[in-house]
Amino acid sequence: MSGDERARKTAERLTYSSGFGNEHSSEAVPGALPIGRNSPQRAPLGLYAEQLSGTAFTEPRAHNRRSWLYRIRPSAAHPKFVRLDAPSDNSRLHTAPFSEVPDPNRLRWSPLPDPVEPTDFLAGLWTLGGNGDVTQRTGMAIHLYAANASMTDRVFSDADGELLIVPERGGLLLRTEFGMLHIEPGYIALIPRGVRFRAELLDGTARGYVCENYGQPFTLPELGPIGANGLAAARDFLAPTAAYEEVEGPVEVVNKFCGRLWSATYDHSPLDVVAWHGNHVPYRYDLRRFNVLGSISYDHPDPSIFTVLTSPSDTPGLASVDLVVFAPRWLVGENTFRPPYFHRNVMSEYMGLIEGAYDAKTAGPGGFVPGGGSLHNMMSAHGPDRETFDRASAAELKPQKVDDGLAFMFETRWPVTATSQALTAGHLQRDYDDVWQGLERNFRS
Ligand SMILES: [Fe+2]
Repeated sequence: MSGDERARKTAERLTYSSGFGNEHSSEAVPGALPIGRNSPQRAPLGLYAEQLSGTAFTEPRAHNRRSWLYRIRPSAAHPKFVRLDAPSDNSRLHTAPFSEVPDPNRLRWSPLPDPVEPTDFLAGLWTLGGNGDVTQRTGMAIHLYAANASMTDRVFSDADGELLIVPERGGLLLRTEFGMLHIEPGYIALIPRGVRFRAELLDGTARGYVCENYGQPFTLPELGPIGANGLAAARDFLAPTAAYEEVEGPVEVVNKFCGRLWSATYDHSPLDVVAWHGNHVPYRYDLRRFNVLGSISYDHPDPSIFTVLTSPSDTPGLASVDLVVFAPRWLVGENTFRPPYFHRNVMSEYMGLIEGAYDAKTAGPGGFVPGGGSLHNMMSAHGPDRETFDRASAAELKPQKVDDGLAFMFETRWPVTATSQALTAGHLQRDYDDVWQGLERNFRS
């Protein structure tokens, strides 16, 4: 059996606990989790107790994130980290603030080329752009990944932010300190800041998108007048079951810290947590579970109605970054231009496509295709292309199911600065502006 097949067998047997932001707990060995105390004088089974804080100790209870880990060795038992300067390890991965000039042009990319050499998830990360300043814990980065090898004897942790992973091709088994998550295209995974993990491939190759969120942790949006239900349900977020590995021998731990990669070779695996409890935990979520709401009269709401997760800023309602999903849904608006309207937005929008087609863009080679993406920066004008405009303007309006695609958006409060590698990439579509050519003068005075 190949490594991928073994990983898939493991992935398909996993169990999870349900709920977002609530207290989860799990133990891989009965009795490993202390009852009534976080840090007893002697933790059960000779384990070390350790707290992992995702928010400041004193943040309000509604935002506070922390977990207690009961592990074979404490995280503190590690050798010195040294800077990884090897270009093969960090030349594709970049961190804000960026030195490039932010570009007001509409930009679109075809999918990231497949790697030629053996490339794991970490080495396969390629930064498209971002904003903010990682040392101030503000902003975000947009990465893509293309991998053809599992991480085997190395583990990654990101002190700079949480990682929202959006697979587009190929399943992943994410072995984390908290246990394992299985994700496929159509799912997302959330790896909290600082949590160590290894990504194993289930299908030989894997490709997708990552939002690295430097700011406040992603949370569910408020629902306001929508009420108690709708959009993403807390119970559909699944946290892993504790699973530890006892690997004695060299394991490389790569730590992303303030934009640089640092490496230390441990004499054991740090994925050695036997039990844990808390709410700073990894999750997976099936985007098809999203309860899509929309208009049942005319017009359609702003796309904020499709927000799955939001990273708030200090200004109410102004997200540092949102994850928005365009999932299958019915369109019933009467006398309504049904595709997304022409608009200019103070927020900046990066869109990606997980499968199928998007209803505002014509698919096809060189178009908006799965694995590709578009960046519409602050106040850049965009909307349906010519063909979509003509079709939607003339369409006979009957109830219509939009069910041939799954697209998403990272929408962020600050302009996204594209990296030099993104602006010079061979897969940048240099003729993107042409999709809005031919929108002729229809004015009749
Ligand atoms: Fe837009």
